[in-house]
Amino acid sequence: MKDRLESMQRSAHAALAQADSEAALQEVRIRFLGRKGEMTAIMKEMGALSPEERPLVGALANRIKDDLESALEERLASLREEEISRRLTLERIDVTLPGRRPFSGSKHPITLVTEEISEIFASLGFGIQEGPEVEKDLYNFEALNMPKDHPARDMQDTFYISDEVVLRTHTSPVQIRTMLQHAPPVRVIAPGTVYRRDSDITHSPMFHQIEGFLVDRKVTFGDLKGILTAFINQYFGRGTGVRFRPSFFPFTEPSAEVDIQCVICGGKGCRVCKNSGWLEILGSGMIDPEVFKAVNYDPAVYSGFAFGMGLERIAMLRYGVSDLRLFFENDLRFLKQFS
Ligand code: PHE
Repeated sequence: MKDRLESMQRSAHAALAQADSEAALQEVRIRFLGRKGEMTAIMKEMGALSPEERPLVGALANRIKDDLESALEERLASLREEEISRRLTLERIDVTLPGRRPFSGSKHPITLVTEEISEIFASLGFGIQEGPEVEKDLYNFEALNMPKDHPARDMQDTFYISDEVVLRTHTSPVQIRTMLQHAPPVRVIAPGTVYRRDSDITHSPMFHQIEGFLVDRKVTFGDLKGILTAFINQYFGRGTGVRFRPSFFPFTEPSAEVDIQCVICGGKGCRVCKNSGWLEILGSGMIDPEVFKAVNYDPAVYSGFAFGMGLERIAMLRYGVSDLRLFFENDLRFLKQFS
């Protein structure tokens, strides 16, 4: 019986050494130490032993049982450790790998121009107002001194939604909306999208403008010149040549178009300035008394000036872009250059 116990101990150790999972270990435990296992089977024969042999075999059986149990525990512990180190190598993260840079977008050049110009006027005390792109004929034209039969309407190539509603052709209707809501003094710029039926390398049916206007007592043409010259010096650089040319708009009187010295050739004459040395960048003038009447401002007490500029044109000059359509195609190779 002693031999059988010892041979059972050896085969149990051999089986343990081969068990390579917790489930396999559990099988070994059942096979040797379980209620119907080999140990139990051998012990059942204890009764046949002599009273002298019984305690000796009993003690041996207990030692073997203890030995197998601790061998099982050890094997279990080492299996668990192997599992942990296997997962540690398998799931290792190489922290020395360089990261993948996520693609980050950048602001559209028209947004950049809008923000920069707005900031300059904000520093001069102007607030920002916006208005709707689908606008009443009344605000886009009529209150701006362009009644239905006014010839200046032809210049605007308007998209009509209905007889009384248009896609705004300029940001000037924001003047009307603002003055209807606020008593003077007002000092506002209004950036936004505008629409005209026009399309070639220098015209897009949708484009952007910034409107600006200031109304108070005793505002003069000198104030208009001063503010616009300050803006141009700040935006295009100190010493940029500026000239005011007489012009006409139905909603300003007198009116002036403002030219800057060509930023491409410095005034010597080139293709961009058509050899004149000058570039037109905005329209402006003293707000017409007819406009003040439409918004119930008293023209005997108040005066003011207004101006409007096309942002695509300004962006083309500022960044040296020769085709206006690039601003609307949204080709990433173009847009990335402004990040
Ligand atoms: N609204 C005019 C245009 O779109 C520009 C302008 C604005 C002129 C304000 C004078 C005063 O051409």
